Amino acid sequence: MIDYNKILAENPVLESERLVIRPFFMDDVNEVFLYASDDQVTEYLTWSSHTDLAQTEKIVKEVFLGKPGVYAIELKAEQKCIGCIDLRLCPEHDKASFGYVLNRKYWNQGYMSEALQLILNLSFTKLQLNRVEATHFVGNEGSGRVMEKCGMKYEGKGSQEVKIKGNYYDVIRYAILKENWVSLD
Ligand SMILES: CC(C)(COP(=O)(O)OP(=O)(O)OC[C@H]1O[C@@H](n2cnc3c(N)ncnc32)[C@H](O)[C@@H]1OP(=O)(O)O)[C@@H](O)C(=O)NCCC(=O)NCCS
Repeated sequence: MIDYNKILAENPVLESERLVIRPFFMDDVNEVFLYASDDQVTEYLTWSSHTDLAQTEKIVKEVFLGKPGVYAIELKAEQKCIGCIDLRLCPEHDKASFGYVLNRKYWNQGYMSEALQLILNLSFTKLQLNRVEATHFVGNEGSGRVMEKCGMKYEGKGSQEVKIKGNYYDVIRYAILKENWVSLD
């Protein structure tokens, strides 16, 4: 039986050309608030924009700090946190899903695709998962494009599958299997 938490704890920091993905610190709160308080960033997320810094402080402390699989995305060039990517394990099925969010100032520059590649590589090479899957809502096609760029395949659509902030959304599913992952190492 693979000890996923041990492997995650042994891999707290992953690095690509432009990014370091690493654990959160309380010092990241101001940077997290910048993206978490932006209504355009949270439009297709299940949670609503933060309205004060104390709310962000609580989330960073209680949800991010010391949680294996929750990574701050740090831009090497600016040495600051510009977003978050988190891997959500489902050990029973040797699979995982993930979520991600990025400060709007940095959208469409390939950063999330770079971060997701690191997470997929960790998932298949170190964690030995069989499958990684994710969803996005119709309307948020940029997110699906990130998944596609990382080799994930479209698996279908659930019509008005969820009700988020009072709106029904169609849900698009993507996944990739270990046998289709080409290692970055
Ligand atoms: C989704 C998100 C993480 C993408 O991050 P990013 O760093 O901008 O992603 P990348 O630059 O790696 O790739 C984005 C791709 O989507 C494309 N794209 C952007 N908006 C698009 C749209 N409306 N329709 C189609 N494609 C779109 C970009 O052109 C780019 O593709 P390309 O490289 O082929 O040109 C970012 O927009 C974000 O944080 N959104 C808010 C939070 C969110 O929705 N999270 C996902 C929930 S499922």
